[in-house]
Amino acid sequence: MEVSQRAKGIAPSATLAITNKAKVLKSQGLDIVGFGAGEPDFDTPLHIKEAACESLKQGFTKYTATEGIVPLRKAIAAKLKKRNNLDYSTDEILVSCGAKHSLYNAFMCVLNPGDEVILPLPYWVSYDEQIRLCGARVIAAKPESNLKITGDTIRRLRTPNTKLLVLNSPNNPTGIVYSEDELRDIGQAILETDMGVISDEIYEDFTYDGVKVNSIVTVMPELKDRTIIINGVSKTYSMTGWRIGYAAGPKDIIKAMGNLQAHSTSNPTSFAQVAAVQALEGSQESVEMMRNAFLERRDYIVKALNEIPGIKCDMPAGAFYVFPNVSGLYGKTTSKGTLINDSQSLSATLLEEAFVAVVPGDAFGTDEYVRLSYACDLASIKKGINRIEEFVRKLR
Ligand SMILES: Cc1ncc(COP(=O)(O)O)c(C=O)c1O
Repeated sequence: MEVSQRAKGIAPSATLAITNKAKVLKSQGLDIVGFGAGEPDFDTPLHIKEAACESLKQGFTKYTATEGIVPLRKAIAAKLKKRNNLDYSTDEILVSCGAKHSLYNAFMCVLNPGDEVILPLPYWVSYDEQIRLCGARVIAAKPESNLKITGDTIRRLRTPNTKLLVLNSPNNPTGIVYSEDELRDIGQAILETDMGVISDEIYEDFTYDGVKVNSIVTVMPELKDRTIIINGVSKTYSMTGWRIGYAAGPKDIIKAMGNLQAHSTSNPTSFAQVAAVQALEGSQESVEMMRNAFLERRDYIVKALNEIPGIKCDMPAGAFYVFPNVSGLYGKTTSKGTLINDSQSLSATLLEEAFVAVVPGDAFGTDEYVRLSYACDLASIKKGINRIEEFVRKLR
């Protein structure tokens, strides 16, 4: 048996590759500081776990409706109303096995082979792979400034084959957040075409310094019938392992996505859905606690990185990543004689020689940068940054 052409085209995840390599070194007894993780370091709040335990005790262990249990779709509709001032009915919402699965269903149900998708650089790796799996083409959009695209970026890049824009604000890996005016500018350009939008809003609850984030559909209601909102409980409630994400969009597309899901995974895990209802409807205190912790870590890490010669780091307004420009270190040699000439070689030597794991920027389509997640405790962040500082000081 041979691996299919389709599967051969899938690149391994660079984020997972670095995490796995760090794990191997850790298992050998080395003290590795990991800035690779794309998940909050906090445990899932107790009241959410208890809801799942209770449902298990009551025997809620069978198939559910493919599209998700009604109480969860109602809780999602209520959240969209309360948080985003958007009206979605339960048949415009599909619950899937994580937001990644929601994205996959969405791309599969709107893209035909040969279609083009505008994907702003730097982008989260899975968009690129999922789009290409559909036989569609990624049009990587270079940001105009501040790592953001504008309406003119779309006007410049679109062709008659361009079907979609993927928007991710707050953004992984940069942490940038589009303002309402910026979203309006982008939305206006979309309205001049018959393109649709996939709006990945999974980091919406993590913004800082009073920066507000809203859905592009809230800002431009005219886009509602051509936008699929993607969100989930993974990041906001530290529930990455539970695998609950959702899509909200036009009824016919949500129905098609449900059909696809019915023949692939069926329903997301029954008791994880019950936990997600509790997450959305229960106390939101843990979200604020996490946000405050991330804020303190962000302020520390950005300041500390900017004190290292050759590293420039903008202050991100959202998510839990920093994306410093490290190209000032390229062309230098480590104390062990290894030449650093790109984000891959920098990440590899940082891990091997300084025992710090960061994700190379080329995994996101931008080689001058690396990504550090600050979803780890402040003591580890301090230790990791000290190691990077010492590593850089010894470069020749
Ligand atoms: C931008 C973005 N979208 C979606 C996801 C996937 O979320 P989930 O774990 O719910 O599949 C991630 C996870 O890293 C992400 O960074």
